[in-house]
Amino acid sequence: MKVCILTGGGDAPGLNAVIRGFTKRACQLGLEAYGSEDGFEGLLDPSKELVRLDDGAVRGILHRGGSILGCSNKSNPFAMAIPGSKQTRDASPDVVAKIRRYGFDALVMVGGDGTMHYARRFMALGVPCIGVPKTIDNDLRGTDQTFGFETAVNTATWAIDTLHSTAEAHERVMILEVMGRYAGWIALASGLAGGADAILIPEIPYEVERVVAKIKERSGSGRPFTILVVAEGAAPKGGGVSEIETEARPGQLKRLGGAGDRLARELSGKVDHEIRVTVLGHLQRGGTPSAFDRVLGMRMGIHAAEMCARKAYGRLVVLEGTTIRSIPLADVGEGPRLVDPLGQLCGAARAVGIELGDAPPPSAASSESERESEQ
Ligand code: F6P
Repeated sequence: MKVCILTGGGDAPGLNAVIRGFTKRACQLGLEAYGSEDGFEGLLDPSKELVRLDDGAVRGILHRGGSILGCSNKSNPFAMAIPGSKQTRDASPDVVAKIRRYGFDALVMVGGDGTMHYARRFMALGVPCIGVPKTIDNDLRGTDQTFGFETAVNTATWAIDTLHSTAEAHERVMILEVMGRYAGWIALASGLAGGADAILIPEIPYEVERVVAKIKERSGSGRPFTILVVAEGAAPKGGGVSEIETEARPGQLKRLGGAGDRLARELSGKVDHEIRVTVLGHLQRGGTPSAFDRVLGMRMGIHAAEMCARKAYGRLVVLEGTTIRSIPLADVGEGPRLVDPLGQLCGAARAVGIELGDAPPPSAASSESERESEQ
């Protein structure tokens, strides 16, 4: 049996743990494993050799960030940019042809919601696929958590901790803009862990006056500095998401950015403090994966190899509670998995006095259903 793995979209800490777990288990099970370099690019280019994966190929990579196979978020096989033009072309027949030429029995696609969308489309073209959920954004449906998220949250928490002392020394308002696209998981988790004073997420359009009130309340109670964490996808009520490029490049997603600067402009003149903005950017994606992300990635890679061996195709490996299992790709659903503004994480933030930018809805208790079941 021959199988091929690729790491689609942007990188996330823990990818190498997946490749290593997958390869080692595939070898144990007698599968011949290959890797496609730079996401789909290895499969799109007919002249490019695929990488043979064996125990030697994955030696010494567990602690390394990035992906030994490389990543690309530019290669959408169903809408490949035509160089020098704004047009795209469907290159999926090239991918299918290469898969047939190598005689692969299955394609393991490690990626986010975009990659899982392609997996469903390749299944429909007769290519057996298995998905493994990856993204620092933690916004993939079907799994309780993606690998890469915890490392990104640790980095953002470190940034908040670091900003704290300088914010206090200069009595400033410090804004930290974090990644996450249209979901607020990184902002919420790091803001909670770092003790932010306000956390603004895409799921809760904010009123800047509430943030102003929070800053003034702190100053009035002898805390003349404030830490604000803003997700790149956060927007004021009635406003749109802040984008770096207003027009998406052919076949690619729009780039978000500028939410922190916009918030600084909105606050300017309304508070007495100096305001500084830090955009954490790709520090969140790089570096050494956390122990949790290594173990999660490894377990998911092992599971994917076992699924190949038993021909459990058309499924996504997921974490459910503490268990690794799989669900049909068809059940994953399109679009990002968002933070629930009425859920326990937002409830926890409100319970410790963190401003979320909007009045808490009447039903926003931190664990209403649990209290009901305790009665
Ligand atoms: O999806 C992961 C992510 O890091 C997002 O949080 C961010 O918006 C985007 O990718 C950045 O993409 P790029 O690496 O292309 O700038």
